[in-house]
Order: sequence, then structure tokens, then C-alpha cells
Amino acid sequence: MRIKKAVFPVAGMGTRFLPATKANPKEMLPIVDKPLIQYAAEEAIAAGIDELIFVTSSSKRAIEDHFDKNYEMETELDKRGKKELLQVLRDIVPEGISCVYVRQPEALGLGHAVLCARPVVGNEPFAVVLADDMINGGAQSCLSQMVDLYEEEKCSVLGTERVAPEETNKYGVIKETVLREGLSKVDGIVEKPHPEVAPSNLAVVGRYILTPAIFDFLAETGRGAGGEIQLTDAIAELLKHEQVLAYEFNGKRYDCGSKLGYLQATVEYALEHDELGEDFRKYLQSFVCEAGLN
Ligand code: UTP
Repeated sequence: MRIKKAVFPVAGMGTRFLPATKANPKEMLPIVDKPLIQYAAEEAIAAGIDELIFVTSSSKRAIEDHFDKNYEMETELDKRGKKELLQVLRDIVPEGISCVYVRQPEALGLGHAVLCARPVVGNEPFAVVLADDMINGGAQSCLSQMVDLYEEEKCSVLGTERVAPEETNKYGVIKETVLREGLSKVDGIVEKPHPEVAPSNLAVVGRYILTPAIFDFLAETGRGAGGEIQLTDAIAELLKHEQVLAYEFNGKRYDCGSKLGYLQATVEYALEHDELGEDFRKYLQSFVCEAGLN
């Protein structure tokens, strides 16, 4: 079955970005001129997905508004002859793409957020995309690479990356059997292990393709690390019953849930930006010289 649905859990509190995230969702923070959540939606659409399911909370209304029509602004831009900007707005949700919103009443963890999407996903394989992990896949987006792999293997696929051994305590980490370069079978998975006990340095980042069997395991999963219902714990159960693969995608990831990663993404995307890139490069070069950073 083709992957048609993507779940975007956006109900977290974003405490690492307070006070910016007090009234604004973390996922609406812009990288240059586009919010994180729009990059994530574009990645899913490029992978052939046509139903975007957002798991939101009470403070995340700006996300619904972003993907909705803004009649007033469109009419005004039209009146002023700003055709290009009008098109920018209209392209946010291309034709044939639908958006569905589900509420997570309490921030009980990523696993719980995914479980909240169950009535909308139903009994079919689906993608999960965490917008704060921004991935520049180059010629082919990360999720599109994973969808291709799913179509060959017809099993759950986790987007993964090798991390510095001392950083395993920030990620779900995999016990692996390497199948070929960049592809491993998942034999076990643990949430945020201390480097001394981590089974490898292969870490799960914010991209998943999951079979619907995950929902039964999520429903049975109790609170794990940090008192939250962890997606990692449900995957650990899933792989006892089905094959799960770990795929090291081609591309560069920015951890935009952290301030440093967010700034790195901002600088690198600004350098690549059509209108801004050249001027920003000049500015950056002169700034580096003046500040004696070279
Ligand atoms: P994070 O671990 O980054 O948590 O969640 P957070 O709340 O967003 O941010 P910090 O750590 O407090 O700064 C990973 C992803 O899971 C979602 C988040 O929105 C984010 O996309 N999430 C997390 C939920 O949707 N619900 C939750 O209960 C927890």
C-alpha cells in the first residue's frame, strides 16, 4: 500500500525556546522566511503524501491558520497586484493536499501524540515527521528516500544518523545488524542511553515510516523515559513481531529544536536563498573578518 498519510506531532511545549514559544508554536519559528512546519510539509508532499495530519494542542492554533486560506490578505495582495506573493501563499497547500487536525489534550510524549492520530490514519502504513529535525536531502528529500525503501521492503523504516558516541543520551539508539552500507536491521532500540551502555551510535532522528501495527503497541505502552509515552518503547515491541529497518539517509540534518541547530540552519539556508544568498554571503565574509573569526 502506498504511503499517503504523514503525521506531524506538533503538540510539544518547546521549552528550549522559551520565551519565544510561550504563545507561538516552536514549529512556526522561521528559517529565513518559511516556518519549520512548512519545510516539513513540503518534504512530505515531495514524497508523494497527500494527507497531512497535525497532532496539535491548544497553543498551536497558528499552525492551523498557516495552512488555511487567509482571504483578507489574499484579496489585499490581489488588489495591489502582488501576484508573486499571492502565489507564495497559494502554494502553501497545493491542490489535492488535505490537512487534518487532531488534538493531543496533554503533552504525554511523542508516542502518545502519534497514538492520537490513530483514528485518522486507520489501518495503513504512514509517515511521522518531526518538524524540528530539518533535513536537507539535496536531490531527493529524506522522506522520499524512505518511501522508496518502504516500497521495496514493505516494513517499518526509521530515519537514522551516526552521532558522536557522547551524544547517544539525546536520541533513540539502535542495536543493529548491518545489512549493507547505510541500511541495518533493527534488533533493539533504547531511548536516550548513556554512552557507556549505548548499543551503537546509530541514532533515530525525526523521520519514521511505520506500519499500523505500531498503534496496538502504543496503546499498551506505559510511561517510560522522562515520564512520557515513548514512541521508541512501542518500536521496541513492534520489532519483536515485524522487521524494522534503520536507514541512514543522504542529506544534512539540523536539530532545530536546539538553539544552536536552529542558528546553523538559518545561516546555511540564508546562504542558499535565491534573493538573499549573495548579499548574506558578502555580509558574513566581512563580519568574519571584522570580528577576527577567520
Ligand atoms: P521534543 O522532545 O523536541 O519536545 O519533542 P518539545 O516539547 O517539542 O521541545 P522541548 O524539548 O520542550 O524544547 C519531539 C517532537 O514531538 C512532539 C514535539 O512537538 C516535537 O515535534 N511532541 C512531544 C508532541 O507532539 N507531544 C508531546 O507530548 C511531546
